[in-house]
Amino acid sequence: MKTRATTPFAFTPEVEAATAPIYEKLKTKVSPLEWQLQAPLIFEINRLKKDMNAVILAHNYMTPDIFHGVGDYVGDSLGLAREAARCDAQIIVQGGVHFMAETSKILAPEKTVLIPDLRAGCSLASSITGADVRLIKQRYPGVPVVTYVNTTADVKAETDICCTSANAVQVVEWAAKEWGTDRVILIPDQFLAKNVARQTDIKIIAWAGACEVHERFDADDIAEVRAAYPGAVVLAHPECPPDVIAASDFTGSTTAMGDFVTKSGAKQVVLITECSMSDNVTADAPGVEFLRPCNLCPHMKRITLQGIYDSLVKHQYEVTVDPAIIPRAALAVQRMIDMPPTTTPARYDMVKARHHVDVEMIS
Ligand code: 13P
Ligand code: SF4
Repeated sequence: MKTRATTPFAFTPEVEAATAPIYEKLKTKVSPLEWQLQAPLIFEINRLKKDMNAVILAHNYMTPDIFHGVGDYVGDSLGLAREAARCDAQIIVQGGVHFMAETSKILAPEKTVLIPDLRAGCSLASSITGADVRLIKQRYPGVPVVTYVNTTADVKAETDICCTSANAVQVVEWAAKEWGTDRVILIPDQFLAKNVARQTDIKIIAWAGACEVHERFDADDIAEVRAAYPGAVVLAHPECPPDVIAASDFTGSTTAMGDFVTKSGAKQVVLITECSMSDNVTADAPGVEFLRPCNLCPHMKRITLQGIYDSLVKHQYEVTVDPAIIPRAALAVQRMIDMPPTTTPARYDMVKARHHVDVEMIS
């Protein structure tokens, strides 16, 4: 009689027992059959991480198997950057897109940073280059440059301070005060720039970049969902156009939206953002019904469990940043990280009231 070879990917009783607490979180999203395929990979990845002194930083847009199964730190861009700087693992596997991995490398150049798929880009990061920023600075001398963290290391190196969706208003106001100006360049997301401009008296100079996921939403999406579900609470990411933000009940970073859902007591929620957000928040918000629409980010979806496993086993793909630009890029990111947590209440409701405020577009 032939005996079946035991592969490291078998759904053994040991794997089943070790991964049972994870399945508890995923069971509304993953069928028992799918779980028999996912659980052994999760088990192996978690074992490899310990052996290799590696951590996985998983963005809120990772699929639930990654987010709940293997992520050591999960969160928004700001949270992941903070963690890259302070974690003491030797290897960081970025569960996210390339600019996030570069940010980790900038903040922790002595660590090995791996990304499971080099094609995991971002439409905002590819909308602007370091050379573009140099020209912008010539055109607007003395005006501070704030760049969204969704940019390449080259762009960060030309920047005075970075921001994320969690702190953009605070960073813009800080930069204006430090430089003693009433104008700030905020690039490359034109919609984030317009949404910030409606929450501050600082004049904003913007670039015509956009997130390919969030720019596709419009206010009609919200009107339709409100007509069908009048009690639903609508949350939108600040990369959405201003009319979408104005029609929503709350806007904030991916982590801020998740926190709002778990604390709000809302029963029906619409997350105007990437689809995995609601799948991941479900585990912490039992009883909340998440309604569509949502859009998938094709770049984030390049990161898979199998890719993470291969990344650890084959030590691929190592993310490098030119050592000559690291100090300047690190200064811009570190300035942002060092800002105190914001104490001013969110001003997103001003986006509704100040629809007349616009930005100066760099042409
Ligand atoms: P957060 O910083 O809010 O996590 O957003 C990152 C991102 O890429 C959203 O599209
Ligand atoms: Fe970039 Fe948009 Fe994808 Fe975020 S969701 S990584 S901003 S393309």
